[in-house]
Amino acid sequence: MIPPRLIYKNGILKVLDQRLLPDRIKYLPIRDAAGTAKATKDMALRGAPLIGCAAAFGFALEMRRLRPASSAELARAAISTADLLKAARPTAVALFYAADRMLEQALAFAAANPGKFTPGTIKQFTALAEREARLVTSEDQAACRAMGKYGSALLPDNCVIMTHCNAGALATMGIGTAVGVITAAHEAGKVKHAYACETRPYLQGARLTIWELMRGNVPSELITDNMAAHIIKTCGVNAIVVGADRIAANGDTANKIGTYGLAVIAKYHKVPFYVAAPTPTIDSKARSGDSIVIEERSVKEVTFVKGASIAPRGVKVRHPAFDVTPANLITAIITERGVISPVNRRNVVKITR
Ligand code: MRU
Repeated sequence: MIPPRLIYKNGILKVLDQRLLPDRIKYLPIRDAAGTAKATKDMALRGAPLIGCAAAFGFALEMRRLRPASSAELARAAISTADLLKAARPTAVALFYAADRMLEQALAFAAANPGKFTPGTIKQFTALAEREARLVTSEDQAACRAMGKYGSALLPDNCVIMTHCNAGALATMGIGTAVGVITAAHEAGKVKHAYACETRPYLQGARLTIWELMRGNVPSELITDNMAAHIIKTCGVNAIVVGADRIAANGDTANKIGTYGLAVIAKYHKVPFYVAAPTPTIDSKARSGDSIVIEERSVKEVTFVKGASIAPRGVKVRHPAFDVTPANLITAIITERGVISPVNRRNVVKITR
């Protein structure tokens, strides 16, 4: 079992601090939206769907803390809270989806209850915000289960599968997206072996994914990212499945840095390349991957590993945290509503309707 990632109780959000995994299981208590945004920025919590769920709870926490006294105050607070949450990280659209969904609820409530609020009105809105945050979470859990089912059905028996980064339970409130597909296939007796790429520089694969696979008793091995081509060529890999942070309307997919390279290798070796992502990951406003903002993170995440410097002092470094895989390298996108294949604008747009 993977420990709960978020626990919301009595106006406190406890966040599993993923920076300490797999060595320590520790929760950070969070009481407001600023704390939620900071935990997201600092990577205490991470993974596209999870940062969306946390943002929804962060929004509810902030409303509970502020107790806006009128509809105008609520609208103002809701807009600034959503902006604060959305500024935490730029690439994963789940964050924007959840913050905007909470904002919409707040604005609708303000419009339906104009003027000064009574203590009863404030209580009513707090309960509504908490309910909506729980709904965002339960929808994510249901989506993960559905993707597991659809994804597992795509895989052959005795499958040798590879994944990148962490798109597991730790990145969601459910069983995970890509790793959810692997564990569902494992439960169906279809997985012969799974490979997790370590995912430099932040090592989500080494610290998180392989830990999840081991805890799920999935026969698996950890590899460094530069072993992928060799393992695909020599170890009978017959499917690659990854998650996504944002999918453009034409199917171009932003995911953890290294995903694009893996898709190119998969194409060369004629190995199907699957993306598993819930439909809120689809950003219909992004016409193609070119309009997806790629987060640039601290160079220290490249030059230091577990606090130890691994490069010369003063070195110039790049750290794009995501890349975009063109739609034509993706065999299928597995969503909770079904499988998109072939991956093209028409089919992507169709599934969002
Ligand atoms: O920077 P992270 O750890 O938040 O990045 C996570 C990923 O890129 C995952 O592969 C992606 O969010 C899909 S999560 C189900």
